[in-house]
Amino acid sequence: MTPTDPAAMRPRRFLPAGPLRGKIRVPGDKSISHRCVMLGALAVGETRVTGLLEGEDVLATAAAMRAMGAEVERTDEGQWSIHGVGVGALLQPRSPLDMGNSGTSTRLLMGLVSSHPITTTFVGDASLSGRPMGRVIDPLRQMGAAFEASEGGRLPLTVRGASPAVPITYRLPVASAQVKSAVLLAGLNTAGITTVIEPVPTRDHSERMLRGFGAELTVEEVNGERVIRLHGEAELKPQVIEVPGDPSSAAFFIVAALVVPGSEVLIQNVGLNPTRAGIVKVLRQMGGQIDEVNARVVGGEPVADLLVRHSPLKGIEVDPAVAPSMIDEFPALFVAAAVAEGTTVTTGLDELRVKESDRITAMAEALTAAGARVRETENGLTVEGSGGDPLRGTAGAIATHLDHRIAMAMAIAGLVSRDGVEVDDTRPIATSFPVFETLLDGLRA
Ligand code: S3P
Repeated sequence: MTPTDPAAMRPRRFLPAGPLRGKIRVPGDKSISHRCVMLGALAVGETRVTGLLEGEDVLATAAAMRAMGAEVERTDEGQWSIHGVGVGALLQPRSPLDMGNSGTSTRLLMGLVSSHPITTTFVGDASLSGRPMGRVIDPLRQMGAAFEASEGGRLPLTVRGASPAVPITYRLPVASAQVKSAVLLAGLNTAGITTVIEPVPTRDHSERMLRGFGAELTVEEVNGERVIRLHGEAELKPQVIEVPGDPSSAAFFIVAALVVPGSEVLIQNVGLNPTRAGIVKVLRQMGGQIDEVNARVVGGEPVADLLVRHSPLKGIEVDPAVAPSMIDEFPALFVAAAVAEGTTVTTGLDELRVKESDRITAMAEALTAAGARVRETENGLTVEGSGGDPLRGTAGAIATHLDHRIAMAMAIAGLVSRDGVEVDDTRPIATSFPVFETLLDGLRA
């Protein structure tokens, strides 16, 4: 997919909507789906997964694990069977691994192959090829892997795995679950104990799932930091896993139901792991009515159905400490802020500049074009809400920059606009949420 190929782009104008009503079930969590496929591909025997997200990003991970020797098969909708090769037994892929748009596939797999005696080349689309990989190259080099990267530590890049790799103790310089996971995955085939220290907690799906697959992993809190220790040369045991719904996908519908007058939507099967649920907390602080029903545990993760009703929202100052637990939800939050009463201030969002797009600039430009009052700062956005009035932008198509979350956020903005919002390309939505438009159209009907 290239943004310079206008003929292939799929634009759509998202029109204003009346009340959204009904119930939807969001697809499987993207982070957890990637990890199921990777760990299943390393466990000897059959891992069975239900509710796997069948988005392009996860399919890129599946193709990569196949290229390295695992059997990864779809048996039915969301149902997958994985026969792994065993830790240490990944095969050298015959051609470069195409990671598409997926940063998670790339960074986690760079970790995995770094402690295997194989040479692997990673390539990706224009968005992924602009993203920094130095943050994973640094610790993986310390473990003994060798890298040849494009300028600025970017894709295409080639990893020569270390055999044997050496265990390290690594304190994360950025709050990143991808960097943490890359080091832990490299630690799987490394003798001794690999330690990651997290000054700021990030999503803990890797830790939960590594334990679930039988790895010896401990987490200790020391002076306010999380110290994660993984015993290497692990033998992973195959699992039966149900993937909970993705809170990052649910976020677009939570915001939609809150901002469209008269709405009442039940969103089923939403993962509410505390390291992911920041958006629910922040929207409640803004006055959003979001009730949790049928709380339960799915696949080792807390899950509930969310009943969301239209609510007049008020602007707030968002505590930057909450950012890691809602790092992918800021585009959706900015839309909520654009129609809230008063000012919403966000800070400490430097990481948003290195996502699938620079989400601070992309959302500032998109919301301004849609008629919202937005000011971009160095590390955040300040949004003056319309107080519930529709957005009155008349500008042309919004540039999504190959970023699924910009496309979905602006689709939701269209629902609360006077004349609709045109998104230049809806194709990127399929990386994380292929049924987004179908679910949205169903709720409008
Ligand atoms: C992810 C971690 C986050 C998030 C990404 C998925 C993961 O990235 O933005 O969509 O699955 O580990 P960072 O770890 O770079 O913050």
